[in-house]
Amino acid sequence: MLPTISRSADAVVMIDQRKLPGVELYVTCRTAPEVARAIKTMVIRGAPAIGVAAAYGIALGMRRSRASGTQKFAAEFYKICELMAETRPTAVNLFWAIDQMKRAFAAAATAGESVAQIKDRLDATAERIHDEDVESCRAIGRHGATIVPDGARILTHCNAGALATAGYGTALGVIRGAVEAGKKITVLADETRPFLQGARLTAWELVRDGIDTTVITDSMAGALMAQRQIDLVVVGADRIAANGDVANKIGTYSVAVLAREHDIPFYVAAPASTVDLATPDGSAIPIEERNAREVTHVGSSRLAPEGAHVRNPAFDVTPNRFVSAIVTERGIFRAPYLESLARAFRPDVATVTSR
Ligand code: MRU
Repeated sequence: MLPTISRSADAVVMIDQRKLPGVELYVTCRTAPEVARAIKTMVIRGAPAIGVAAAYGIALGMRRSRASGTQKFAAEFYKICELMAETRPTAVNLFWAIDQMKRAFAAAATAGESVAQIKDRLDATAERIHDEDVESCRAIGRHGATIVPDGARILTHCNAGALATAGYGTALGVIRGAVEAGKKITVLADETRPFLQGARLTAWELVRDGIDTTVITDSMAGALMAQRQIDLVVVGADRIAANGDVANKIGTYSVAVLAREHDIPFYVAAPASTVDLATPDGSAIPIEERNAREVTHVGSSRLAPEGAHVRNPAFDVTPNRFVSAIVTERGIFRAPYLESLARAFRPDVATVTSR
């Protein structure tokens, strides 16, 4: 499995996703601010992966703390949590993971644990978040495989693969699950302008796994659907609101509308940490606006003229009516999502206190 992120005694190590597929480089973060910077600058990206990175970053930061008293230690802890929360706004997994760390800290404090014991507990919590994410992705793969017909030609957008998670992937987890179930699958990967997660990362992962992959530009999806060359769509998610509206990489909404027009199922695959019952609908999801340079340039080459205004919203919201089903580790959920998601995920909502 791809080594997206790992922890050693004094560092968090990540594959640098900005450099793939050309260069396989690993970035070693030795402090919490270095981990926060890696998240912000997209060394690591993808909703579950940034949650895992934040948890490891917090644990690493506290491991390095020189505070001997619990009060000073607590002040440092909350400061680092804040730092992580400021990195990226849309993926709720980040806030979910920070919340898990805060709950571990609170439980340790209530139990009267020493600073050394709290450090161990934070390390163990981050490790658990990492391990559970891999397990969730594998379960998503097993459930998802049941809705993928043999011979399916699957379109995916962005990268919701091993690189975007602790391993295996969500949307690519469904594809991997179908392949492991013995189905013959071909994948179309939208290039995903402007950051090109599809062309660079999804294609790299799938080719590495020996899965038949064709890269297309985002604007080709409609024509291929009209020609009946796509059987289903599966994408990941950065946040799923209580009513089933889905925030995901910019361009996902266009794909969903096209899929509806052509009667093609549009599936979303995500773990429970992406489901945010505290956000009533998609209009309440904060959408990250990223640097204009991602749009005006490819690498160091300028495409757009100086002086043109630029927009770069990194995510969009797909209304629930376009979503055929949501595949999670707890099973497959269909409309009406307000009810089906509440039934399956209600206990989690009470645990998420920060966002
Ligand atoms: O800006 P990114 O690359 O972090 O955006 C990633 C996506 O939109 C993914 O599709 C989403 O996080 C799901 S990852 C399993």
